[in-house]
Amino acid sequence: MFRTHTCGELRITDKAREITLAGWVQTIRKFGAITFVDLRDRYGITQLLFGEELNKQLEENPLGREFVLQVIGTVSERSNKNPNIPTGDIEIIVSSFKILNKSSVPPFTIQDDTDGGDDLRMKYRFLDLRRNAVKKNIELRYAVNRAARNYLHQQGFMDIETPFLIKSTPEGARDFVVPSRMNPGQFYALPQSPQTFKQLLMVSGYDRYYQIVKCFRDEDLRADRQPEFTQIDCEMAFVEQEDILNMFEGMVKSIFKEVKGIDYTEPVQRMTWEDAMWNYGNDKPDIRFEMKLLNLKKASSVYTSKQDNVALINDASFKVFDEAETVLAISVPGCADYSRKQTDELTEWVKRPQIGMKGLVFIKCNTDGTYKSSIDKFYNEKKLKAIADAANAKAGDLVLILAGAEERTRKAISELRLEMAERWGLRKKDEFKLLWVLDFPLFEYDEEGNRWVARHHPFTSPKPSQIETMINNNPAINNAAEYLKHPYANIKANAYDMVLNGNEIGGGSIRIYQRELQEKMFAALGMDKEEQQHKFGFLLGAFEYGAPPHGGIAFGFDRLCAILGGSESIRDFIAFPKNNAGRDVMLDAPSTIDERQLEELQIRLNLKN
Ligand code: AMO
Repeated sequence: MFRTHTCGELRITDKAREITLAGWVQTIRKFGAITFVDLRDRYGITQLLFGEELNKQLEENPLGREFVLQVIGTVSERSNKNPNIPTGDIEIIVSSFKILNKSSVPPFTIQDDTDGGDDLRMKYRFLDLRRNAVKKNIELRYAVNRAARNYLHQQGFMDIETPFLIKSTPEGARDFVVPSRMNPGQFYALPQSPQTFKQLLMVSGYDRYYQIVKCFRDEDLRADRQPEFTQIDCEMAFVEQEDILNMFEGMVKSIFKEVKGIDYTEPVQRMTWEDAMWNYGNDKPDIRFEMKLLNLKKASSVYTSKQDNVALINDASFKVFDEAETVLAISVPGCADYSRKQTDELTEWVKRPQIGMKGLVFIKCNTDGTYKSSIDKFYNEKKLKAIADAANAKAGDLVLILAGAEERTRKAISELRLEMAERWGLRKKDEFKLLWVLDFPLFEYDEEGNRWVARHHPFTSPKPSQIETMINNNPAINNAAEYLKHPYANIKANAYDMVLNGNEIGGGSIRIYQRELQEKMFAALGMDKEEQQHKFGFLLGAFEYGAPPHGGIAFGFDRLCAILGGSESIRDFIAFPKNNAGRDVMLDAPSTIDERQLEELQIRLNLKN
């Protein structure tokens, strides 16, 4: 037998037992005639003691870091106990040992606070995975996987696999494509999600489907994006939006309970997309803290129906505000005592290219009731107080104001809101706040093509009350500058996103299930009959054979794991991730292929540089 126990298993109650352990050498410490070795495996670390009589053997067969070692010995009570590890009360008095395999000196230390940089650890990912910190993430991922499966199985969902070699129908992101040897000149695409397959499964009658499945998207990468990532992909038939929200709220709560021991008993808060944009400047607000936006000008292109507060800044001859398309403010609690240095630093922060603002205006709401501002030349104290009051600022708070082009300013203030919350410790890693964002616009205007694109995807149904608007209006946009006046701009979708701590962890919709409406939708997106048939003929055809009403959602599994694990980066939660350039540096992929392979595929490269 290779081992009787694991390296995380033995306790003081096992004292005097004869055992066999196998694992990796973590550290070697020599004290005169005796040697201590920490032996590590997936389950923990156990201290080994090599006494004098084994020293000669050790000299002949010296151990090194990461050697694979098997020892036979006796469990003994440690004189110098280590309360930090579960096996810390005992050690193994080794009677014999065998080196199962040697190891080269690892390129970085296999410890929590390793000396290896990102690139090196990616290159030797198999070693990085030995580290406790990474292992904990992989374990958490498995726990989330199990919890999701348990819940979905209990609810009668069936895991059904769908193909990876499919047809290219790029929508949001670019497709990854795979050449077909047997069909020269033709290509498969890897699925961006199993969207159409899960809808077909509904037509087939499998009314509760799920899959924890890889998706592939050739898009620009960020900390929360990988070219191949995993979804908890779900679909249900005979449901309305409310059924989906309840079912999947239940799933996430059940994951919280099983994985983190958190009882998330309150109902998940709900917010319309318009309210999210108006109050927080983006569609995935972090609602662990308030700090809502004050709109000092009508942000005209998004929220046509909302009140503005333009009277508060008018008539002051302050050009920056007067000429700006948008002026937005937030009130940061307890920061009125910011020094000149600190406000200067914040101003530099908003001027960084990533944020891109020209400057920052502030109003300090001093605790003595006075107001001090970078714009007090233009606004007297009474006016400053009126703005501060409208921003819900209290004595001691700091009001921050950004002015500029609408979209940029909105993005900048929502970044600033998160930054200030981060600095004030309001984004606690162990606090979890879920949010449903509802009523997304069905269409988005694509300036480049002067056309409509689907905000979620083309299978999403409009709100039932707006189907008529969609059917009865011509999608053509005659005046690009006034696209917002087009009836399509106001059509809302039966679509929903789940947001956790400011991250979009899932999104879905109630689907179109009638051929006619689906054709209308494709047409609205600029697809003529021929293109519709070429790309989605299979789906349109299926809708003719008794498609039930259906809807679904997909969760970003990697993202959910990362947030539950308290990290921003999903890479830490993927066993073998790609780097920011989409490369697997361990495999050195992507890479060129043999001339012979290209020939078989009848492909000739025509590289531009
Ligand atoms: P969507 O495109 O919104 O919906 O994707 C669902 C969720 O997947 C996660 N996600 C990603 N995670 C890591 N890397 C990426 N590149 C990446 N892209 C998306 C996000 C997102 O919320 N078929 C639809 C779902 C449906 O309508 O049922 C879909 O794929 O957390």
